[in-house]
Amino acid sequence: MAIAFNVDRLASIRTPFYFYDTNILRQTLDAINTETQKHDNYFVHYAVKANTNPKILQVIREAGLGIDCVSGGEIEQVLKAGFPANKIVFAGVGKSDWEIELGLDKGILCFNVESIPELEVINEIAARKGKVATVCFRINPNVGAHTHANITTGLAENKFGIDMQDMEHVIRLAQQMQNVQFKGLHFHIGSQILEMDDFIALAHRINDLQDQLEAAGIQLDIINVGGGLGVDYQNPQANPIPNFKDFFAVYQQHLKLRPHQTLHFELGRAIVAQCGALIAKVLYVKENAIKKFAIVDAGMTDLIRPALYDAHHRIINLTSTATKEDAYDVVGPICESSDVFDKDIPLPKTRRGDLLAILSAGAYGEIMASGYNCRPLPVGYTIEDLA
Ligand code: LLP
Repeated sequence: MAIAFNVDRLASIRTPFYFYDTNILRQTLDAINTETQKHDNYFVHYAVKANTNPKILQVIREAGLGIDCVSGGEIEQVLKAGFPANKIVFAGVGKSDWEIELGLDKGILCFNVESIPELEVINEIAARKGKVATVCFRINPNVGAHTHANITTGLAENKFGIDMQDMEHVIRLAQQMQNVQFKGLHFHIGSQILEMDDFIALAHRINDLQDQLEAAGIQLDIINVGGGLGVDYQNPQANPIPNFKDFFAVYQQHLKLRPHQTLHFELGRAIVAQCGALIAKVLYVKENAIKKFAIVDAGMTDLIRPALYDAHHRIINLTSTATKEDAYDVVGPICESSDVFDKDIPLPKTRRGDLLAILSAGAYGEIMASGYNCRPLPVGYTIEDLA
């Protein structure tokens, strides 16, 4: 089932805005739960950085997922949405003191610690509060991912995580500290990964690290493999639900999980991307000697992915009844040359007033919107809002 548009209803709302088909979201969550329920030790934490719209959060909470946060603001937002603190994991290379305090006060499941200085500060703050912080170390596994350089995270050159060769040392340090309890390891190699081989490589790397640690007498309770599963941006309507079966099967087949261990996932994009679309209105169609521009009222302030990562989002015309197609550059109104959603794409003959849907925009869309050019932030509506 593809994302469903009630065009008459959408046409009655001021553009641009985000539209979320929560039926797609629920089906996606069902597909995840179907796979993870085969194991009593698999836990999925929604990477809330992808979308914090409260209505989206509510559906995800109802499906029973936990949360992966990267800021105090996200922790506050998900607690407000009713997620239990003990299902929250907290990552990030630069956690502020107040964010660490918040995590400790609320009793989150685990801090994913990314450096020794951070570990020392967490220990200090926890000591001041008379608490013990549960920590995992984010290890940089030096595993590449076949994705855009800006969203690759698991290479030695990236700022994330602790080097593999320092792993034993930091664990020993943590074990000597009074106010932290070392629980396990965390990894995340990148985002929009479609090659299962990348995840297989990660699983093998984790097996090696586990063997090495066990030989040194160190046991892990938690293994967190992060997120990164990609979605089909080319054909979202044909493939609205990502391949969760293969994704979870990778870990079942390749990761040597010990019986007492829990395995944690931090999926963001794969959960929310395909349920969302950015709806924009065509303001003008402008032609020059070589091009036709469809100038729309949404811009890079509403969806920055094309400008920032050269990301491709499928664009469809919801209202044109023309049978003849033309090639258009779909561009926004912002005073930046990179404010282009796509170039030379075929659309049915497009005119002023037509509604376009920019698909697969549920992840890293609304949440990355900015007020540049003093533009209002886009509103997000669910299918229920429009019923
Ligand atoms: N865990 C950690 C530690 C992460 O850094 C991320 C994403 C995730 C989980 C979730 O990854 P996902 O399952 O969504 O791939 N704004 C970019 C993506 C940035 C991803 C940052 N980290 C984009 O629009 O493509």
